[in-house]
Order: sequence, then structure tokens, then C-alpha cells
Amino acid sequence: MTILSNGHLWKYSKFIENENYSFNQNKILNLLSKKDIDEAYLSISNWENYTPTPLIELNKLSKELNLNKIFYKDESKRFDLKSFKALGGAYAVEKITNGNKNITVATATAGNHGRSVAWGAKRLGLKCKIFISEFVSKARGQAMSDLGADVIKVKGNYEKSLIECIKQSTENNWQIVQDVAWKDYMTVPKYTMAGYTVMMKEIADQINNQQITHIILQAGVGGMAGAMVAGIARYLRNIPETIVVEPDSAACVMESIKTGKIEKINIKRESLMGGMSCGEVSLVPWEILKNSVKFCISLPDDDIARTMKLLGNSSFSEEKIIAGENSAPGVISLITSCVDDKIKERLKLNSRSNVLVIGCEGDTDKEMYQKLIIQ
Ligand SMILES: Cc1ncc(COP(=O)(O)O)c(C=O)c1O
Repeated sequence: MTILSNGHLWKYSKFIENENYSFNQNKILNLLSKKDIDEAYLSISNWENYTPTPLIELNKLSKELNLNKIFYKDESKRFDLKSFKALGGAYAVEKITNGNKNITVATATAGNHGRSVAWGAKRLGLKCKIFISEFVSKARGQAMSDLGADVIKVKGNYEKSLIECIKQSTENNWQIVQDVAWKDYMTVPKYTMAGYTVMMKEIADQINNQQITHIILQAGVGGMAGAMVAGIARYLRNIPETIVVEPDSAACVMESIKTGKIEKINIKRESLMGGMSCGEVSLVPWEILKNSVKFCISLPDDDIARTMKLLGNSSFSEEKIIAGENSAPGVISLITSCVDDKIKERLKLNSRSNVLVIGCEGDTDKEMYQKLIIQ
């Protein structure tokens, strides 16, 4: 029995097309410059133990969906942090401290960004303070302590941990390394995004003159998606159809694209896709995404565990892929789009399509991963 003929209904929640779509390469590279992008690649590719992460063909799935190719960027192999996030926070730490060893860096985080900052601080021998909310799992907090960071638990949600981080950092003269931008805080989030663009440079090298026709990008606050769009503008010779995917409980990019301005979501239920459970798109990525994303799709959590399992037992590819919760939505949205004739047509998905999906992370929370794949 094949994956799609076993009677399971692959679900999406909403699908929209951006009425303000107009991909403008120059405008994008004004927001995240070629210089920033190139500098990030030059620095990161010289870090100890740097190697490009694999670009795996989901050949079994592309055959079933009748697509030409599906490329899966496997960030579970990114340094020892198992997530693309390793490229962002750690690079921002390097940029803002600029060789100065007497700086303490601080951040508020749901997990992976903080690990990247802690790891970046450790690399450079800097002190690091990490603020986490009471909802961040023990394992994630421990992972940052293990990297030598001082982990401070704050009562309340992520916003509360950020407020405390800003307060203590101001009092103690620590440098805040946040991946989210606000009105007077754009430089560090830009460095973080510049770090993420390394993924697109690697992909451009790995596809070897083949053309990507579609790219599906997960979004939380939109940093990764915005960075990848900038990477398209910088490195690709064509402009693929760009699709942003989000949890239906936190579709802040979709809701903002709908109205053409930043819309805040009141998250009523935390998605299993924890890294993507964000209520408001960040300013820098928004400026990039608002005209450059062509489609948005939102998903319930229903198929996450199933997809992680199918990736892990080599149902989609020749090799087994360790995919965390935030890695599944690219594949799920592609499958649901292919089984819905209307969406398939709108996206122009066909036997000539080469689709890129991003496997953002591996088993960054081992306990959670095991729990989900045995379900
Ligand atoms: C672990 C993790 N955190 C966060 C995100 C979201 O990134 P951003 O907040 O930059 O949109 C993703 C993927 O989209 C992810 O895999």
C-alpha cells in the first residue's frame, strides 16, 4: 500500500494567495544586503567543523505525488545543534561582540535560538545569560546549561521572559542577542537572518544547475522564511513559487499577508510545532515577506507525528531522516497541496516541478521525538 492510498486524509486548514505579490530582487536585497549575506557565508563556512548539511531527495514521495523532484534540506546535521538555528544566533553573537571577550550576551528563547546563542558564546569564550519561560521543557533548558550558559527561568510566557531579559540586560550592561526585531532593534535580527541564508547558498551549490520551481518555508516569527527569500534573491537564477506554512493556531504571517499589515494573533492553543508557535511576525522579515511570498498555508497538528515517522522509517526517501516537529510541515503542506486539485493547479505543481522543503531540525528534544514517533 502506498502512503497516499491508505485512506488517510492529509489535512490543511487555510490556503490563501497574496494579492500584493510582487517579487522584487533589488528591494529584497536592500532589506538584507548582499554584503551582509556574503559576510555571513564567509564567516560561518570558516567555523571549525563546518560542512554543508545534506540535500536529500525524497524520491519515493516525489514518485507518489507525480512531481519531478523533492529536495529536503536536512538541518538535523547542522553542527552539533541539529537545527538551522545554529547559523543565526551564534553568528549574531560573533558579529556584535566583534572579538571583544569581555562581553556577556543575553537572550530570551523558547529553546533553539538560545542554544545557538549559548553555543556561539561558548565558541568565543563569552559569558551567556538565557531567559526561558516556565513552559520551556526541562530538557531544552538543560541543553543550554550544558553549553555553559546561565539559564534563568521566568514565571509566565515567552513575552515575560523577554521583558525580564531586557530589564536585567539593561541593569547589567549585557548585550541582547534576540532573533525577533522591533522598532529600535533591527541590527541583531538582521545578522541572525544573514546567518540563516547560508542554507540557501549551500542549496544553490547542491542543486547543480537544476531549477527549484517551488519552495515551502516554515514560519514562526518569519526570520527563517525571510532569510530564505533573501537567499533566493541573492543566489538563485530563477524565482520559485514561494509558499509559507504555519500552524493554524499561530498563522501570523498568513493573517498579515491577508490584510497587508502586521496582524497580531492571540494564540489560544500552543502548537506541537513549538518553534513556529508565534503570534506576531517580526519587523525585518515582514518587510521582505509581505510582497515576496506568493501563497500561505496553515496546518493543524494532526499529521505531524505521522510525517516524522514516515520520514524516519525511509518511506519518503532511500535513507532514514530524523525530523523534529518543525520539520514536518513542509512535507505535509506539499502532500495536502498535491491531493487537493484546486490548490495543485493554483501552485502549478506537476511532473516537471522541483520542490524544496526545509527540514529545519532533527530530534532537538529527544524525549519528545521518541514520544511522537512511537505514537
Ligand atoms: C526549531 C524552529 N524554531 C523556529 C522556527 C521558525 O523560525 P522563525 O521564527 O525564524 O520564523 C522553525 C522553523 O520554521 C524551527 O524549526
